[in-house]
Amino acid sequence: METSLLLPDLMPEEAAQARRVAAHLARKIQAAGGVWPFPAFMAAALYAPGLGYYAAGARKFGASGDFITAPEVSPVFGACVARQVAEVLGHLRAAGSGPLTLVEYGAGSGALLVQVLLALEQCAALPEVYAIVEVSPDLRERQAAAVAALPEPLRRRVTWWPGHASHPWRGVLLANEVLDALPTERLRVTATGIERMQVVVQELPLGTFAPLWTVPDAALESWWETVCAQLPEPLRPGSQLEACLAAGPWVQEALATLESGVALYVDYGLPRSALYAPARAQGTFSAFFRHRQHADAFWFPGLQDLTAWVDFTAVAEAGLAAGATVAGFTTQAQFLVNSGLEAVFAEQAAITGEGMALARLTQGVQRLVMPQEMGERFKVIALAKGYDATLSGFGRRDLTATL
Ligand SMILES: C[S@@+](CC[C@H](N)C(=O)[O-])C[C@H]1O[C@@H](n2cnc3c(N)ncnc32)[C@H](O)[C@@H]1O
Repeated sequence: METSLLLPDLMPEEAAQARRVAAHLARKIQAAGGVWPFPAFMAAALYAPGLGYYAAGARKFGASGDFITAPEVSPVFGACVARQVAEVLGHLRAAGSGPLTLVEYGAGSGALLVQVLLALEQCAALPEVYAIVEVSPDLRERQAAAVAALPEPLRRRVTWWPGHASHPWRGVLLANEVLDALPTERLRVTATGIERMQVVVQELPLGTFAPLWTVPDAALESWWETVCAQLPEPLRPGSQLEACLAAGPWVQEALATLESGVALYVDYGLPRSALYAPARAQGTFSAFFRHRQHADAFWFPGLQDLTAWVDFTAVAEAGLAAGATVAGFTTQAQFLVNSGLEAVFAEQAAITGEGMALARLTQGVQRLVMPQEMGERFKVIALAKGYDATLSGFGRRDLTATL
């Protein structure tokens, strides 16, 4: 089926923006010699200043946007995450003096930071600093508006860091649905190895870009060799897959300055052996436009989110390389239950009262935990550095051994 049959028509201003983004990408590709590695294309389509999906003012989150994330689904998500954060901050405070920091990467609309700060205030566990690392200037503005609406004792703790911390810090790192947004390689298996997707410019009515399959570079060759040696079942020729080579260094750099504390990454993904299995021979790359999911990265780049599932084994390996240990790995549903979902729901239901509001609260929680919704697809991994207390969020059904 053609993409155009599946996707809604564009508004005139969207069509104009799509033309601007396509022209920019085409110029970049031509300047690079006519061929661009897919991660460069994805990075520009998502983050090119004033043009990329995350950098040009699109609505993005929520019912009127393109996709919905857990903190947008229900405040219960942030309240449960806050309970795990409070536990870690409590241990760190008991273990030594000095300020504690909560660092949130890719804070989106600011929904999670609001939920977490309000919940931490309630249990008197606020960190001294809540630092946001955000690549999108557009989203930084939205986060600032969310922060401005908070009471002053919370507001004054929030700050934006330009990138990874350059100084030692103690505390907790949070990243919800950020790893899946890092630019990824797209590959296909051949009879003798793999080919790498690159992007060329092509003038067609449905888009101006096309894939060009080429031999992999040395880094991808070496990655493929390592992965092949680990897979219980080989992938057949023709299978497609993604390799986010940027994820490992990104996690390592974030942990390099963490003296003691825990990093929590929440995202859709799997351990490596399940991610690169014959059952997923189509790969996991997806584009999202107004809650429609498809796999055409070249359909109006700049107007749609581009993502791929996370290889959680790679995240664990990056943690180990940074001197951390894997302190837990489980499904989102189990993490939320372990972190006190029942109590959080009861608290919020008591405030909400009965009727439609309670129905909405219940529906949100179902969406967070039901296996066919976010409950099983999304996982949570904890990397601990200079921190050896157990984490309640992984107390039951810890799947670390599957990584
Ligand atoms: C899918 S959104 C998730 C937003 C939010 N965490 C939530 O759950 O609603 C991805 C977020 O990650 C940000 N992002 C992408 N790459 C990043 C990076 N390298 N460092 C920090 N933020 C990044 C995006 O700008 C966006 O805010």
